[in-house]
Amino acid sequence: MIAISKMAAAVQPSATLAAGARAKAMKAQGIQVFDFSLGEPDFLTPKHIRDAAIEAMNRGDTHYTPANGTAELRAAVTRYYERNYGYSVSPEQVLISNGAKHSIHNALAATVGPGDEVIIPTPYWVSYSDLVQMTGASYVLVPTRLENHFKMSPELLRAALSPRSKLLMLNSPSNPTGSVYSRPELEALADVILDSNLAVLSDEIYEKLVYGSAKATCFATLRPGLAERTITISGVSKSYAMTGWRIGWAVGPLPVIKAMGNVQSQETSCASSVSQAAAVAALDGDQTCVEQMRREFEARRDLVFGRLATMPGLKHFVPDGAFYAFFDVSSHFGRTIQGKAITDSMSFCMAALELAHVNVVPGAAFGAEGFVRLSFATSREQLQGGLDRLEQFLR
Ligand SMILES: Cc1ncc(COP(=O)(O)O)c(C=O)c1O
Repeated sequence: MIAISKMAAAVQPSATLAAGARAKAMKAQGIQVFDFSLGEPDFLTPKHIRDAAIEAMNRGDTHYTPANGTAELRAAVTRYYERNYGYSVSPEQVLISNGAKHSIHNALAATVGPGDEVIIPTPYWVSYSDLVQMTGASYVLVPTRLENHFKMSPELLRAALSPRSKLLMLNSPSNPTGSVYSRPELEALADVILDSNLAVLSDEIYEKLVYGSAKATCFATLRPGLAERTITISGVSKSYAMTGWRIGWAVGPLPVIKAMGNVQSQETSCASSVSQAAAVAALDGDQTCVEQMRREFEARRDLVFGRLATMPGLKHFVPDGAFYAFFDVSSHFGRTIQGKAITDSMSFCMAALELAHVNVVPGAAFGAEGFVRLSFATSREQLQGGLDRLEQFLR
């Protein structure tokens, strides 16, 4: 028998991918499932991006690229930050990886280890805790409240600091809550950070998906000196409907980006050459597609929250970003629905899947028992159908 390492034994499978797999298994049995578990846009990657990939293949871009990414894509990323935020970085400060998740792994591997603490505002994206744990560092969760739209205050951050604190993981717009920190709120956090030795991993993967008057902010640009402390993470998965292409990036101080690049060069060599060419077309091409998808997500958000507001026993706020509804279902705990006891977010989700064929993810996976996450990155027809079922289930 081959013994499993301590590190691997401690890693949990991604709860969202596991929930997606459960729904797929039911679909394979011919059951119509309303699957709201996965955080991926349902749109086809725009045509000019797909065409760029075909061109890249045909011209022979089918070999290893430099470990840190092609010069073309790294330059396109520098233009992206200049254009969107007036943030000037050199191509050497950019590392292209196999999705933003891989960028986060590289950042953690290059900056923290045993004895270090990583601060994670909660609810948090499922992978953060496991990715930290894989480095041997420990994480400190900072619970936030629905009443505050799940935002961490400077006081909460200050209270979480210890002599071992090394890194803060920020995520705005947030998965799972959709919460978007305003510029002044981020500036107040930046002041606490600049007063401490803390570095920041700012995961800005949903930066293009903000609604109403909300604006995405590039954290590194907020205060002088902050860029030297901040690793900015983003990618093409969510903004350009490119989850399967696996392109993400990190931007940060040169020594950290170099160390991350060394880790990556030994792990995966480089990201896919064809996907990198497609990502250049995404960043440098016409941005109308991004705005069209953003508008559709905003319409779906309004649809979903209009429906949730009339359902019994739910508590929520209407988020300004990403494509998730994260709502409190705890008033239903203690009920038994068609023989199924609802005691926590997991049993709620299992009952909703089995009885209503609606697949949502338990809040426990995001460090927030009592809540569930519904992804609205799916068509309005699917959302209407699934929300009808959810309403019947709750009533
Ligand atoms: C907050 C957050 N960060 C990072 C990622 C990873 O995205 P990618 O597909 O680029 O690995 C996701 C994907 O769900 C996410 O929700």
